[in-house]
Amino acid sequence: MKIEPFRLERWLLEQAEIDLGGGGVTKLQLKDILPDFDLSMVMKYGRTDGSDELKSLVAEWYSVEPRNILITSGTSEANLILNLTLLEAGDHYITENPKFEQTTRFAEMLGCKVNEFNLMENKAWTPDIDELKEAVTGKTKMIFLDNPNNPSGAVLSKAELKAIIDVAEDSGAYLHCDNALRGSELSGKPGATPYPEYEKGVTTGSISKLGATSPRIGWIIGNEKLIKRCWEMKDYTTLGHSGIGEYIAVELLKQRDRLIKRNLEISKRNINDLDNWIKMSAGTYWRPPDAGFTGFPGYTAEISSEKLCRGLLKEKSLLLSPGSYFGVEGHLRINTGSTSDALSEGLERLGEYLATL
Ligand SMILES: Cc1ncc(COP(=O)(O)O)c(C=O)c1O
Repeated sequence: MKIEPFRLERWLLEQAEIDLGGGGVTKLQLKDILPDFDLSMVMKYGRTDGSDELKSLVAEWYSVEPRNILITSGTSEANLILNLTLLEAGDHYITENPKFEQTTRFAEMLGCKVNEFNLMENKAWTPDIDELKEAVTGKTKMIFLDNPNNPSGAVLSKAELKAIIDVAEDSGAYLHCDNALRGSELSGKPGATPYPEYEKGVTTGSISKLGATSPRIGWIIGNEKLIKRCWEMKDYTTLGHSGIGEYIAVELLKQRDRLIKRNLEISKRNINDLDNWIKMSAGTYWRPPDAGFTGFPGYTAEISSEKLCRGLLKEKSLLLSPGSYFGVEGHLRINTGSTSDALSEGLERLGEYLATL
């Protein structure tokens, strides 16, 4: 297998004084959720499909049953297992664009033929359903959504999701929704996901965007038969997820409402600040996000987003992520889950740099 670089992940390793390259909220400390960590905990494998307690907490969040859930090592392993379980070389795969490129790149590496349909920026990043219909072929095995969308922050309405489900159903394709950004919707209500409404709908997600990336706990949600097949595949990937991670995830999900409130306060304040900055800055524009911890403004300067980001890093020690890494040129991804100070300093440096172009 030829390994395609996952450009964003390597880019995010760059060091900068101001780091607004990522797409998550300011991380929690362990003591914020577990002041009395149980040091007598035995460090053994747990159930490889996830403990009943953790599955029940996830099931409650998604209004499904625990048997519809497989616990994984983050959304990343969930996406990997799902693709390894369902995709074969020669399958046709459709992804929305812009998107977080992990899943699509991996489908390509498995030998799938990949086509895209766009979220239309001039229509508030809503999906181009006609383009999706045109992309479908007799070999379409999977349609992929990144919802809430990373980087644009758009959230599909129920009607839009239904229109996509109809296309998937007509073609017999699986509909995979990467739901890593669940809980970041500014409305306070989780966006719609395809399972159980659609039997071949499947959702992946994790606790990472609640503010805890290091426990590495995520999940796959789908019909029981698919979950069993994915579990069989997991025996060959990691066998078991982190037991300590699972212990932390249980506590975190019990405190979900409080954490979501904290996270929304951070992102709403930052989105408001970014909106004010964009309104006052010549040469930038955006459609404010409905969710998530990323803004995805466009700029008018004639320079590629990668070159612009490299220049910002070198000249201003500011890390932003190039739009091209998400499939849309002429845009920058800016973290709206950062501290207020980092955002305001970062925007000042961005403004100074754009003025030199
Ligand atoms: C849309 C999306 N999917 C998956 C991931 C990976 O997340 P996890 O930490 O759950 O593996 C991310 C991380 O930024 C993401 O934004």
